[in-house]
Amino acid sequence: MSLKEQFGKDILLTGWGHSKFGKLTDQTLESLIVQVAGEAIRNSGLDPKDIDEIYLGQFNSGMQPLGFTSSLALQLSADLANVPATRTENACASGSAAFQQGVKAVLAGTARNVLVIGAEKMTDAGADVVGAALLGASYEMAGKASTTGFTGLFAEVAKHYDKRYGSSINGPGYEAGLGDVLGSIAAKNHRNGMDNPYAQMHRDFGEEFCRTISDKNPMVAEPLRRTDCSPVSDGAAAVVLSTSATSDSATAPVRLAGFGHANDFFPAEKRDPTEFAATRASWERALGMAGVGVDHLDFAEVHDCFTIAELVMYEAMGLTPRGEGSRAIKEGWVYKDGKLPVNVSGGLKAKGHPVGATGVSQHVIAAMQLTGTAGGMQLANARRGAVQNMGGVGIANYVSILEAL
Ligand code: COA
Repeated sequence: MSLKEQFGKDILLTGWGHSKFGKLTDQTLESLIVQVAGEAIRNSGLDPKDIDEIYLGQFNSGMQPLGFTSSLALQLSADLANVPATRTENACASGSAAFQQGVKAVLAGTARNVLVIGAEKMTDAGADVVGAALLGASYEMAGKASTTGFTGLFAEVAKHYDKRYGSSINGPGYEAGLGDVLGSIAAKNHRNGMDNPYAQMHRDFGEEFCRTISDKNPMVAEPLRRTDCSPVSDGAAAVVLSTSATSDSATAPVRLAGFGHANDFFPAEKRDPTEFAATRASWERALGMAGVGVDHLDFAEVHDCFTIAELVMYEAMGLTPRGEGSRAIKEGWVYKDGKLPVNVSGGLKAKGHPVGATGVSQHVIAAMQLTGTAGGMQLANARRGAVQNMGGVGIANYVSILEAL
């Protein structure tokens, strides 16, 4: 059943904006928000006075000690005065939390046009401050000292995964098995990032570099190397959600076909670390609402905050059975010319991961693919794609299915 059949209306992405991701020393959180909000409203063909509500995804104001950041969008235009603006926080999925709140406001009929923004400014703070702020997403770790930050939490996932499935992957030992597979995922996403003008990293490191520990690719938290991690980033993205598009919009609109959201338990001991069970639930909800299976997707932008997350994602989305995710990369399915290209944008790995911006950025990249405006990233025949965004280690999970009209 389509959204229209279920809720009596379509949800369309009618305009979008995206900043460059990276270390943006000349930009503030405010200038990033105003830039992408302006682009999104202009491209939708609307005026600021047409916006009924604003949601901003931003994770941790500890990295940028500001309150009321959702109100920063109002600096764009006097016509935005008195528009309700709310900040959503669900760790690294804060952007998708904003997106789904916007969807629900339009579905509820309390807003006709919603501006959704995701933004984060991380590089102004030192590595120790950023690391501690990110660990807040783990709740149990919040306030605790850690030398490995969030990488340490995903390193535990990799260790558990290797213990359970490693011997079935390639050869004996981590280096020839899971380590090589994660290196291939990193190399794929770095290669894809070369074609993304918004990406933070334009470096085609190649398989050998990503698979090998070296001075230039040191261990961050055993067994994860630097190339297994997303970088620390600044950036923002925005979309306008409406029930119909105007003839003044810059591109054709994109339709939301389904969406899902599921949160998981703390403490982590209650969960199997090799399975992101709530992530799987969010995929099932979104695909179920869209009435399609994973085989009906032409591409997916997924949350590869660390390479092990992308590997487990192949299984959570149902591309392979559990423990067999490595097949998706070894057999070439997830490359640009494969049956389900994953992270053609370079993913968080190469595009960058300004945490609150990521979920909105993924929707913007998908919308570009579906309107044939993705430039060097463009896939032939991209008619339906998925976006998956995750906060914490499988804690806050969001999936959207988007379709070309
Ligand atoms: N992947 C690949 N290369 C990276 C990189 C990354 N994630 N981060 C930095 N680099 C490169 C830089 O381009 C630079 O290259 P150069 O020496 O050739 O110019 C070099 O590594 C050193 O950069 P620097 O910024 O000093 O790296 P760092 O060691 O301080 O930080 C990480 C690297 C991986 C520790 C850091 O990016 C990090 O903490 N990432 C994880 C962030 C995180 O937890 N996000 C939340 C996810 S849920």
